[in-house]
Amino acid sequence: MEPHLYYAIILLGTAAAVFKFFLYPAFFSPLAKIPNAHWSCSFSPFWIFWMKWTKQENSRIYKLHLEKGSTIRLSPSLVSVNSYEGLKKIYHGGFPKPEFYFNGFAVYGTDNLFTIKDNQTHAAHKKALSSCFSKSSVMSSQTARGASRDILFNRVLPLIYKASTEDKPIEVMDLTYSYLLDTFVQWQFGRSLASNLVEDEKERRFYLDGFLGVAEYTFWQYHFPRLVAMLQKVGFYLIPKSALNAFEGVEKWNLEKCDQAQQLLASGKQLTVDDQPVAFEPALKGMSEVHAKPQMYPKRLPLASDMFSLNSGAFETSGNTSTYLLYELSRRPEWQTKLREELLSLSQPLKHIPGKSVEIEDITNPQDIDKLPVLQAVLMETLRLWPSVPGGQPRVVPRPCTLGGYHNIPAGTTVQSYASVLHRMPDIFAEPLEWKPERWLDSSPEQLALMRKWFWGFGSGGRMCLGIHFAYYSIKFFFASIYSNFTTTIHDHGDMEASDGYLAGPIGHRLELKFHLLE
Ligand code: HEM
Ligand SMILES: *[C@@H]1O[C@H](CO)[C@@H](O)[C@H](O)[C@H]1NC(C)=O
Ligand SMILES: *[C@@H]1O[C@H](CO)[C@@H](O)[C@H](O)[C@H]1NC(C)=O
Ligand SMILES: *[C@@H]1O[C@H](CO)[C@@H](O)[C@H](O)[C@H]1NC(C)=O
Repeated sequence: MEPHLYYAIILLGTAAAVFKFFLYPAFFSPLAKIPNAHWSCSFSPFWIFWMKWTKQENSRIYKLHLEKGSTIRLSPSLVSVNSYEGLKKIYHGGFPKPEFYFNGFAVYGTDNLFTIKDNQTHAAHKKALSSCFSKSSVMSSQTARGASRDILFNRVLPLIYKASTEDKPIEVMDLTYSYLLDTFVQWQFGRSLASNLVEDEKERRFYLDGFLGVAEYTFWQYHFPRLVAMLQKVGFYLIPKSALNAFEGVEKWNLEKCDQAQQLLASGKQLTVDDQPVAFEPALKGMSEVHAKPQMYPKRLPLASDMFSLNSGAFETSGNTSTYLLYELSRRPEWQTKLREELLSLSQPLKHIPGKSVEIEDITNPQDIDKLPVLQAVLMETLRLWPSVPGGQPRVVPRPCTLGGYHNIPAGTTVQSYASVLHRMPDIFAEPLEWKPERWLDSSPEQLALMRKWFWGFGSGGRMCLGIHFAYYSIKFFFASIYSNFTTTIHDHGDMEASDGYLAGPIGHRLELKFHLLE
């Protein structure tokens, strides 16, 4: 080839690359008009990965929104949107989920309710389950009441009573995880397949250590799953093998529960209300076949994956929330007093009577508990200030659209909002960094309506949290029964600052409380 032709090709190639990777994203892309989080965001995702890796994403993006307004570009094709209009457009508009969810939350190598991208497939999975998760179903479920009776009243409260009489502290983060998982699993699979993490130390460590052991390696799995898989093939483990094996143990545990529940239903035996697998049964009937040979029912793994997304989604989010609520209340005796006054005003107050086993008829109606304003306010304020899903919830733009006044946002752009930013806007939530339940009690109706619009603890739209009513049910029952009979003080704790990531909870992972009995 002629040398000058050769140079011309190199020159053209370089020019094209410069245009594609620098000039276009920085000057010509419709996204170029959006303020950058950092100058490099126009042409490189390095900044956002660095923020994630160094665990300062949520706090930095909060400050950037305060400085630069409601729309910010975080990488060449990632935009953060912090407005109510944005929420409506993205999350009520059926924008599909990106790969991130599959990378982080698929189990058995197969999609589930949480990870499915497109809304049609998602709708089919959700259809079978949405009825048992509705507020009226959860509130009136006798199986759920039975679970509360067995786990809360006959296991957790006696354990707390015992510790209080012995003046011993209790580590409440693992206790709330255990309480919430046991309660959910009993409702999900029925009493005959229930777990007992509350009392069985071995099962508790197996499940919690197995499930949580991989948490500190999420960065690689969320964002570079192919790298993780590739390196694993040549024997290099970014996530330690022992952690992977322990997590697989938990997957197996859940799969066995599904297999047993299918056999239970296939046997045709008349099941008591307590034994009904309330969440598993409609999923099995909707997606698979009840009458199949053991482990041979159609869609076994997708079904097990859905069940896993439910029981794992149930305990950790609600447990982190409960831990923060115990922490806030334990530092503020005046709120404990207010809560107790309200609880004693119930027509049927919750009673812990030592040594006597509790029956369903003894238990206060959950509808009455749900209506208590102080309990609602302290919980809302905790979900606001300490959201357990504070990070960006990414969605993919399906067709060019306008967001935050910027036109022609290209299809394929990832857009996301952050609960941790929405919940801390000072013009909506005055003194946003303070835990002030009174804002939910004393604000004007207009202000309350505004705060409710911006509250995003459970997300919104078609992919909003499916378990919201179960979360309220199980968390409120726990707090109502404890603060009817006990006060709490802090004995000791680890770092209570929330970790910075997609999910969050107390960094130190330890809160020890003392419970003091009230007659
Ligand atoms: C305080 C407790 C809880 C909080 C704060 C919470 C929060 C959330 C949030 C923010 C989402 C949307 C995430 C996203 O799109 O990125 C979500 C989804 C989901 N949550 Fe929860 N959650 C809680 C409890 C529960 C419980 C008890 C269950 C029980 C089954 C559950 C099951 C799910 C499921 C299945 C989804 C996916 C829904 C879908 O894509 O259709 N969550 N949750
Ligand atoms: C599902 O997605 C389609 C195509 O993106 C969209 O038109 C529709 O509104 C979505 N449905 C829901 C319920 O979000
Ligand atoms: C709960 O908190 C722990 C930190 O103590 C965190 O690692 C985990 O991701 C949090 N989980 C959720 C679901 O928010
Ligand atoms: C718990 O509170 C109820 C209602 O105040 C009271 O009747 C009962 O004696 C208390 N139980 C204990 C063990 O203090």
